[in-house]
Amino acid sequence: MKAVRIHTFGGSDALRYEECVEPPLRHPANVRVKLFAAAVNRLDIDLRNGGAEQFSLPGIPGCDGAGRIEVIGSAVKHLKPGDAVCIYPFTSCGQCDLCVVEDYALCTSKRILSERESGTYAEYITLPARSCFPVPLGFSFEQAAAFPLVYSTAWRLLMIQAKITPGETVLIRGIGGGIATAALQIAASIGARLIVSSNNEEKLTKARALGVELTINDRTMDLVKTVRSLTGKRGIDVVVDCIGGAEWVKSLATLARGGRLVTCGAMGGPNSVTDLRRIFWNHLKLCGASRATRQEFRALLNFFDSSGVKPIIDTVYPLKEAAKAQALMEARHHFGKIVLRIDG
Ligand SMILES: NC(=O)c1ccc[n+]([C@@H]2O[C@H](COP(=O)([O-])OP(=O)(O)OC[C@H]3O[C@@H](n4cnc5c(N)ncnc54)[C@H](OP(=O)(O)O)[C@@H]3O)[C@@H](O)[C@H]2O)c1
Ligand SMILES: [Zn+2]
Repeated sequence: MKAVRIHTFGGSDALRYEECVEPPLRHPANVRVKLFAAAVNRLDIDLRNGGAEQFSLPGIPGCDGAGRIEVIGSAVKHLKPGDAVCIYPFTSCGQCDLCVVEDYALCTSKRILSERESGTYAEYITLPARSCFPVPLGFSFEQAAAFPLVYSTAWRLLMIQAKITPGETVLIRGIGGGIATAALQIAASIGARLIVSSNNEEKLTKARALGVELTINDRTMDLVKTVRSLTGKRGIDVVVDCIGGAEWVKSLATLARGGRLVTCGAMGGPNSVTDLRRIFWNHLKLCGASRATRQEFRALLNFFDSSGVKPIIDTVYPLKEAAKAQALMEARHHFGKIVLRIDG
């Protein structure tokens, strides 16, 4: 089969589109999926750069994918060849003290597809049947590959961790990113009042075209003062901040009393200075997430089926142009997901 593999860590030229062996079906509970699309994530770039110990060389990156079941193992009952599926990208050990009480999101041996096995930048993948879910109604394979990692993480951040409710004010920082655009669509569907921010005016224009009325340019406007004026000095109920670094302090300063800040990334750096008094004086909650459970993934599929929401896709490249696709993400020019089309 054709796949994109990494033989040595490095820049986007480390991605090689080449012929390699189709993955065998090693376990009766596994299936082989013929993939038609994969999506690009920051994780893929971290793996390529050598920033993740769990990736062995040569390896195939990619944790998001969609396609059709080609072969099923003898123990698989709920799927059949030809079924259109998207992939739940997380695994948990099933045995640690958190898994035994079904707290799978907190598993101590959790991992994301591609970290220790072959990923989705390939024509075929084998994986446990329980990682395959039906493609949401009306989704193309490209849409079905675009959402799993970022939409399920954004779902957990907003619905499980922050528990957003209709009418709350939600501020999303760095709009245009995968997590940020997923959060935008989920929060808008719940009936939240949205404010988004970015360094890039073009991305703010795109957010306005999607119906977001309140936008803040981080380069030219003072975030905290603008939020105070837009909210009648009250502040924000829920901030989604995957930037961290120096921006984290500003995000905290925008929160209303009792507000929640949710995060799953630190694009601008992992360290930040926090005035702890702000947290206890204002009864703030800080919530993180690094994955979603199968149950939450199922709830997200139901949300897509009932709301008609479809993931925002910026650009689709053929698989062999994976290097270009990752370079686009690194240049930060995208708004929504970057997808790889897998022909054949
Ligand atoms: N399950 C998980 O734990 C999980 C899942 C998905 C993502 N993540 C993490 O969440 C973060 C965002 O992921 P994503 O998929 O949304 O990535 P993305 O699509 O590349 O978006 C990154 C966003 O960060 C903003 N940004 C601000 N400062 C930045 C900086 N210094 N460098 C790069 N970007 C910066 C960019 O906005 P502007 O260009 O407008 O500033 C852009 O909107 C990453 O750290 C990723 O690893 C975690
Ligand atoms: Zn576990």
